Amino acid sequence: MADHGAAGRLSAPPDENPIIFEQKRAAARAAAALVRDGMRVGLGTGTTVAHLLPAVAELGCRELVCVATSPATEAAAVSLGLTVLPLDSVPELDLAIDGADQVDPCAWLVKGGGGAHTREKIVAAAASRFVVIASADKAVPAIHSPVPVELVPFGVEHTLAMLDPSRLRESAPTPDGGVLADYLGPVEDPRELSRRLSSTPGVVEHGLFPPEMVSEVLIADAGGVRRQPGGKA
Ligand code: 5RP
Repeated sequence: MADHGAAGRLSAPPDENPIIFEQKRAAARAAAALVRDGMRVGLGTGTTVAHLLPAVAELGCRELVCVATSPATEAAAVSLGLTVLPLDSVPELDLAIDGADQVDPCAWLVKGGGGAHTREKIVAAAASRFVVIASADKAVPAIHSPVPVELVPFGVEHTLAMLDPSRLRESAPTPDGGVLADYLGPVEDPRELSRRLSSTPGVVEHGLFPPEMVSEVLIADAGGVRRQPGGKA
């Protein structure tokens, strides 16, 4: 899992595998084809989403309204001419599109490698349809650690002790003032771990996204873009 820092870096590392690069691009372009003029669309964060933004801008939709999940995405989207509004200025989103660090066969996700998972989860939950875009390397047989967590700065060492084993990230605070860390222990049952993380005092949000949040996953591999259904109607 790449740590893009708290601001959610969008540019791919210079040494990124060209096959992975092309797969991210293919998945992103397949998702951009779902965008229609007049929609309200949530834009995720990360190097896969970096391919989505120009593909959406190329559509030339004049009435499209976007909501960004990070300052980095907002800056990139605005620079491409997209209209970006705060989430609270729109009643609901028609579609949200985002990357993931891991996708399992049931559509459980791990997100937050870019440290933006709290806003990403809020935006995904605000959308009628949440589409995940991923290169083939993100598909895993079972979710595993690290699982990103955003923590309240107050008493962070105590919170970390309750999440043992876990490790603070060496990154700037999130745009919402949170501290980023990763839970490093076994996952086994993602739902049970979700409950544990959510009920730990000091945890703002964790990076486990359940299948019922996910409408579909577009995974690009050597054969093209494959559609994996999620658990959201
Ligand atoms: C950011 C995220 C990203 O969607 C996730 O880390 C995948 O990033 P990338 O597309 O760069 O591999 O959750 O918080």
